[in-house]
Parts: sequence; structure tokens; C-alpha cells
Amino acid sequence: MSFIVAIDGPAGSGKGTITKLVGEELDFITFDTGAMYRAISYYMLKNSISFNDKEKIKKMLKEIDIKLEFENREQILYLNSQKLVKELRTKEVNEVVSQVSHILEIRLAMVELQRKLAKRKNVILEGRDIGTNVFPNADVKIYLDASAEERANRRFKQNLDNNINNSSYEEILENIKFRDYNDKNSDIAPLKQAEDAIYLDSTNLSIEQVKDKIVEIIKQKRNEK
Ligand code: DC
Repeated sequence: MSFIVAIDGPAGSGKGTITKLVGEELDFITFDTGAMYRAISYYMLKNSISFNDKEKIKKMLKEIDIKLEFENREQILYLNSQKLVKELRTKEVNEVVSQVSHILEIRLAMVELQRKLAKRKNVILEGRDIGTNVFPNADVKIYLDASAEERANRRFKQNLDNNINNSSYEEILENIKFRDYNDKNSDIAPLKQAEDAIYLDSTNLSIEQVKDKIVEIIKQKRNEK
């Protein structure tokens, strides 16, 4: 029987890191759904597809093929066979991804893909609308949060570690606040805590502490199942 864990929350709340660690500990497959919206943003920027051009967007969705593979548990995204890593985290992509992710046709296609990928598996999906929209019947739902300042701080350090340092802390903070606003106020699948999600504020918790809490919650639920 499959077991689905949904981890939602705003940009920089630690979803990515935590999801990977929990997946490792429990041997679950993990999906970073934001990467899919990032890949589409990259493609639209590269091909100068306007966000209002519904016809071109529909055509694009027929042309693109997104595949997720795993190398040492690390999710690698291929867009029409092109491996995308750093391309997904640029300032340009950061600036448009929230807008792109709220285009109805794009979201419907990505939600369908996410449901297909998770079929009959033990999975953890991290995103914004997993518990509310993609898998409303997920076995465990977590809403992971942290202050905007702490989240910007984490993203800044993460970019430095990954040699992606084209944004200052202030720019990142501004982008995080902008995306929070966009993500929470969208008409299409806005970012919000599902009624039955467990709220975790990670501002003053270590990664290890958050990971342990989530592992504990999942183990308990699995025993009940
Ligand atoms: O998690 P992230 O920062 O990589 O996500 C990039 C953007 O994609 C973010 O601004 C919100 C959007 N997103 C979404 O709307 N739904 C998801 N399931 C995942 C991400």
C-alpha cells in the first residue's frame, strides 16, 4: 500500500532539505514539485513565451516532457532530455516562477504529472498545494513555516554553498516576500495550510529537530494504518 506525505510551506521554509532527510531516513521517494514550475519558467524565458499567451502556453505543454530521475537520492530534472540544475535557481527564474506557477493550464498539467509520479509508491512531495490540492487525502500533511528573514537567510547561504551568488540578502528577502504574497493570494491553488495539516514553525529549530519531529509523525501514522 502506498503512503503519501505532503510537505507544504512558503519559499525557504526548509521543505527541500527536510524532505530529503526524512526520505533518506524512512526510505521514501521524494519529489520537489517547485522544480517543475521552475523548469517551465526557464523554458518560457528561453523561448520568449508571454505569460498571457494561452495558445502558445497550450502548445508548449504539448511539446515539453519533464522527467525526474534520482542520483544518490538527489532529484535530477530533465526537460526534453536536457538536464537542468543551476538553470532552475537563477535570479531570472526566481523572479517569474510564482507567476508562472499560477497559470491554470500549467498547474493542471503539473498536478496531473505529480499524481502520476506518486502512484503506488511511498512518497514525500514538497510544494505549496500538495495537501490542499494535489493529494487532499495524503496520509500525513505538514505545513512548514519560518519567518521571512530566517528564510531569506537560509536561501542566501544555500546559494553561496551552491555557488549561485547572483543575489544579495536584501534581494532574496524582497523576492521571498513578493513570492509569499503571490503564492498566498493566487486564485489558483493558493498557498495555505490544509485544515488537517500539522503546523511546524522552524524559525528556532535546527534541521535535525524538524526532521525528527516529522519522522516521528510519519512513523506514528504508519503504525495506525
Ligand atoms: O519551492 P520553490 O521555491 O522551488 O517553488 C517555486 C515556485 O513554484 C514558488 O514560487 C511557488 C510555486 N509552486 C507552486 O505554486 N506549487 C507547488 N506545488 C510548488 C511550487
